[in-house]
Amino acid sequence: MFRAKIYLWLLAENLKIFEEIKSIRDFLKVCSAKKKSVGFVPTMGALHEGHLALIKKAKKENDLVVCSIFVNPTQFNNKEDLAKYPRDLKKDIEFLESVNCDILFVPNEKEMYPEDEKEKLLKLDFGNLDKIMEGKFRPGHFIGVATIVNKLFRIVEPDKAYFGEKDYQQLIIIKKMVEKLKQPIQIIPCSIKREKDGLAMSSRNARLTKEERKAAPFIYMLLKEAEKFYPVLSPSKIKNLVEKRFSENKNFILEYFEIVDSSTLISLNKWEKMQNPIACIAAHLGKVRLIDNIKMQ
Ligand code: PAJ
Repeated sequence: MFRAKIYLWLLAENLKIFEEIKSIRDFLKVCSAKKKSVGFVPTMGALHEGHLALIKKAKKENDLVVCSIFVNPTQFNNKEDLAKYPRDLKKDIEFLESVNCDILFVPNEKEMYPEDEKEKLLKLDFGNLDKIMEGKFRPGHFIGVATIVNKLFRIVEPDKAYFGEKDYQQLIIIKKMVEKLKQPIQIIPCSIKREKDGLAMSSRNARLTKEERKAAPFIYMLLKEAEKFYPVLSPSKIKNLVEKRFSENKNFILEYFEIVDSSTLISLNKWEKMQNPIACIAAHLGKVRLIDNIKMQ
């Protein structure tokens, strides 16, 4: 194990790798004294072009970029999903090197959740934001996300932090968390990176079988179809249409399809001026749960 780790660390030529909170904080203190701006990209690893787009954007806008890799157990409400979450640190390091990421923070579970803090979760009141969609179907998920992102923010103390619109509800909740805790961190949204056939890139796509992978672009196809009907059909008519199309497709089990206001995440019954609607979807394809969304414009 120890040898394997040394080998991985040697792989990294320019990337500085830290596993301990104290050591990364010490290093970042020196950088902050030199007035270097820090961009931060938190991830759970199994990196793909979607993650790299965040890092590339962060590189353009900051002196130093920190990426973290930590598969956070408190945000998983499904044990199998956590156990089967793809992990490939060697490939991740190669990816990070390829985009000139400066620092990787890769702590273990004890470092992020010491015994005496294990039960301590950040329970902020997010109002409606964490009650619907992902919040409804993954109870406790956003408490876990907010807890770990807050811990990471306190360690890295970035100027800017980058989040993908792929996890749109997460992005809105993190913005709200920063506002509530008065953290001086700018949250930068990044657009969704897709495969050529439209499937939103995701670490979980690696768990799809060949057949499932072929079927997967159906989700984006329906989102595009839904967008086409905006604003001719009402939100509920579009919703019915999408639900019907899913019921006709045996590959998928639709969990939710919602059209919400993109700032408040309140479900829309009719179109109004000054709204920025977004359609969000979650569906199971075999054993894999996929999410996606599209801004309706
Ligand atoms: P993870 O799923 O690894 O995603 C890390 C970041 O990459 C998130 O901000 C996510 O929205 C973004 N991302 C993933 N796929 C993307 C795509 N196809 N296009 C653009 N951005 C994409 O999200 C998490 O990890 C965790 O919840 C985390 C925030 C790290 C807390 O544990």
